[in-house]
Amino acid sequence: MVKKSATIITLNKAASEPIHLQIYTRFKEAVEGGLLNDGDRVPSTRVLASELGVARGTVESAYSMLLGEGIFVSKGQAGSFVHAPFRPVGQATPARTPRPRKTSSMAHPEPGLVAGGPSHVFLPGSPAYDAFPRKVWSRLASRRMRSLSAGDFSYRDPLGYLPLRQSIATYLRLSRGVACEPQQVFITVGYQGALDFLSRCLGLQGKDVWMEDPGYILATSMLQDVGAHLVRVPVDQEGMMVSEGIRMSPHASLAIVTPSHQSPLAMALSWSRRMQLLDWAGSAGAWVIEDDYDGEFRYSGYPLPSLKSLDQYDRVIYAGTFSKTLFPALRLGYLVLPQSLVDTCTEKARLYQLGSSIGPQLVVNDFIAEGHFSRHLKKMRSLYAERREMTRKVLRDVLGNHLEINAHKNGTHFAAKIISPHTDQAIVSGFNQLGYGIHALSRWTANGAQSSRAHSSHNGLIIGFTNIANEKTAEHAARQLQGFFT
Ligand SMILES: Cc1ncc(COP(=O)(O)O)c(C=O)c1O
Repeated sequence: MVKKSATIITLNKAASEPIHLQIYTRFKEAVEGGLLNDGDRVPSTRVLASELGVARGTVESAYSMLLGEGIFVSKGQAGSFVHAPFRPVGQATPARTPRPRKTSSMAHPEPGLVAGGPSHVFLPGSPAYDAFPRKVWSRLASRRMRSLSAGDFSYRDPLGYLPLRQSIATYLRLSRGVACEPQQVFITVGYQGALDFLSRCLGLQGKDVWMEDPGYILATSMLQDVGAHLVRVPVDQEGMMVSEGIRMSPHASLAIVTPSHQSPLAMALSWSRRMQLLDWAGSAGAWVIEDDYDGEFRYSGYPLPSLKSLDQYDRVIYAGTFSKTLFPALRLGYLVLPQSLVDTCTEKARLYQLGSSIGPQLVVNDFIAEGHFSRHLKKMRSLYAERREMTRKVLRDVLGNHLEINAHKNGTHFAAKIISPHTDQAIVSGFNQLGYGIHALSRWTANGAQSSRAHSSHNGLIIGFTNIANEKTAEHAARQLQGFFT
């Protein structure tokens, strides 16, 4: 394999294209063109760097992109391997959703997305509630509550507590490559509040908005409710099919994407799609919302750079949330706005009192500033990696005849395709009556009824793994789930 790759990777050091991108592209083309096959071992970064006469860090950057996109997989000491199993490509029929209806799909909300929801076992989209550092949190909270100043009782800046906005700007610069100033950072009521706020700032009523298909069900429902015209853009193994979006609605005002881990299917938006999306936004004068809801959680390779970090046109609105990194009941999220939107959005924030409650903002800021946030993330990454592996093994052993679980090592849930002749909506409605809160993948698509048919590519289950503390719990739940496949 080492020999093979030396002939595949020919570099043009005089070209303007950066060397790490050339390496990335050559490997990708080699996999697509069949020169490299599933399971082929690729040379170590050290070996390839010395073969090519480039710095090891350059090869590492290329590998981290290939690993991030699932084109390579890392097997620890054994090295990195090509990952190219047969995967059916975006069979979803491109579809435009009808004009907003009075009753959105949230008339029947997904379990677990409403207050007081079901068991956390298998519940998607949640951090591990048993692993939250409650002691530290309550120490910081009580210290803050004891020392509130008169100013803390008064009306506060609706854009958010400035020291927190500064801490977030620093965190994003370091961990997500987002170059931003605190004045571009707005604190929101979670991502949901951010979308609501942006729909006012961008005046989305009646406008075309690209939304991934399948895509985040709460965002879809909310955009329908505010009167946006959703253009559902299919997703394949490289994420949103940008060329389909351009074909369906070239002059859309906005595209909403989940580039780090597509929600809910979990693949990363490929490098070429990222470039295509940014180029389109730049030339169409459209905005792009990057929903980076759980970009912190990757269990192999390095965290992927954010789309915002590549945004030379300043069209990307970065949206982050503390719902996965801390806990959802905080209702704290943040936006990083392009400079050209700051004034308009500041006006709207003042008009609609965007502000979040001061108490949680003070505590979160201390939590970040005193180093607890980065320690917590580090611990959660390794805990989730373990829980993911354990749950995956149990699901494979118990339900391997019925479910095919995605291979992406990231996030907080699995998207599992149903491979036996059962339909996701029937399975979910039976199983959730036992007190669980899994989701039917087909309900996250534009055409749920069709997607829910047996053997459709989006007939599947969305299953969380972060709150499964041990194998016994996983096995009990998996056996109960198995009971609905008979
Ligand atoms: C795709 C996606 N985006 C964003 C969020 C976070 O939403 P919020 O900040 O409103 O809790 C979630 C939570 O499940 C999600 O799945």
